[in-house]
Amino acid sequence: MIRVAIIGATGIVGQQFLVGLDGHPWFKVTKLAASQRSAGKKYIDALRDDAGSLKWWCPEPIPAGVAEMVVEDAEEFDPTQVDLIFSAVDTAIAKKLEPVYAKTTPVVSTASAFRYEADTPILIGGVNMDHAQLIRVQQANRGWKGFVVPKSNCTISGLTVSLKPILDTFGVRRVVMTSLQAMSGAGRTPGLSAMDMMENVIPYIPGEEPKVEMEPQKILGILKNGAIEPAPFPISATCTRVPVLDGHLVCATVETEREATPEAVKKAMVEFGKDFAALGLPSSPQHLIEVTDDPFRPQPRMDRERGGGMTTTVGRIRPDTVLGPNGIRYVCLAHNTKLGAAKGAIQTGEYLAKYFLNWQV
Ligand SMILES: NC(=O)c1ccc[n+]([C@@H]2O[C@H](COP(=O)([O-])OP(=O)(O)OC[C@H]3O[C@@H](n4cnc5c(N)ncnc54)[C@H](OP(=O)(O)O)[C@@H]3O)[C@@H](O)[C@H]2O)c1
Repeated sequence: MIRVAIIGATGIVGQQFLVGLDGHPWFKVTKLAASQRSAGKKYIDALRDDAGSLKWWCPEPIPAGVAEMVVEDAEEFDPTQVDLIFSAVDTAIAKKLEPVYAKTTPVVSTASAFRYEADTPILIGGVNMDHAQLIRVQQANRGWKGFVVPKSNCTISGLTVSLKPILDTFGVRRVVMTSLQAMSGAGRTPGLSAMDMMENVIPYIPGEEPKVEMEPQKILGILKNGAIEPAPFPISATCTRVPVLDGHLVCATVETEREATPEAVKKAMVEFGKDFAALGLPSSPQHLIEVTDDPFRPQPRMDRERGGGMTTTVGRIRPDTVLGPNGIRYVCLAHNTKLGAAKGAIQTGEYLAKYFLNWQV
């Protein structure tokens, strides 16, 4: 078994890592780390707040054996004790810790610390795993035996998966999108107050729109001569927070280069990603995208768990000519802490273990 550590194991994404790795056929969680607040405590005790209330948010139970594991201090953590590290800490902390770990050990991260570095790919399963070759440049530039590979921002994970077949089949000129983002996306520290969120919508998420307007182009870009040439289309984003627990919904309008009828877009989406799914990675869904004809779907409660939380659900595909003569609009939904964070990172780790590191799995 490949020994893995989860850094930030007590947080919302860290908990999803534990759920996603429970009974994993290749990876075994052997180390947990978090802040000094949790260090030295049993995992179950580290989950309690100052009043003693248990902060476990996944619908799934805490995996067997984890509650009694002792959490280590992430700053003191020795990365050579494991083969692979999954990092789920705030960006400022990731910026400090991940390069230290990467000197010796591969790191797959859900933080944004390295996303915009020229020698670092942002990998999404089925969309751009060919960018993994850029890791060689990162290792050479930085003299690392390991590496840091970040996941994308959770808001754009479903959008980017849905844009890929549109880009490949029809070309993309520009995108206008509005997100309705779940509360779990804000993390636990400091988290959102119930008084703010109940019966309400918050029309601004600090720092989110610049990421959403920049990351998809890098992910959908072309790797050439050791650098990524971003896909050349602009995105206009409005990001909002809604009182939903998990699942980010995105309403997208896309101007295409060539005519894109709803039927042709549906076909391109349904056929998308078959080669990647056929690799049979343990965390991959059977379908990267499922398209629904029900105009009342996708809905977070009904659709976020499709494909084990790894399938993007697209609905309401219809023509649009406001942006230009060729266009399409639709609604897509992705599970922000599964596809958009922990399980997506596990899937990336699976791909890299088998096809980049060439480990026997
Ligand atoms: N939530 C999402 O939907 C989502 C999606 C995609 C990406 N992300 C990214 O994933 C990362 C984790 O997000 P989250 O939502 O899980 O956050 P979170 O719930 O606030 O959890 C933060 C984790 O970081 C640990 N931590 C805090 N300070 C630390 C320190 N100084 N050293 C080491 N560990 C420390 C915490 O440990 P203690 O319990 O000990 O304080 C906790 O385990 C962030 O970079 C976030 O942007 C989140």
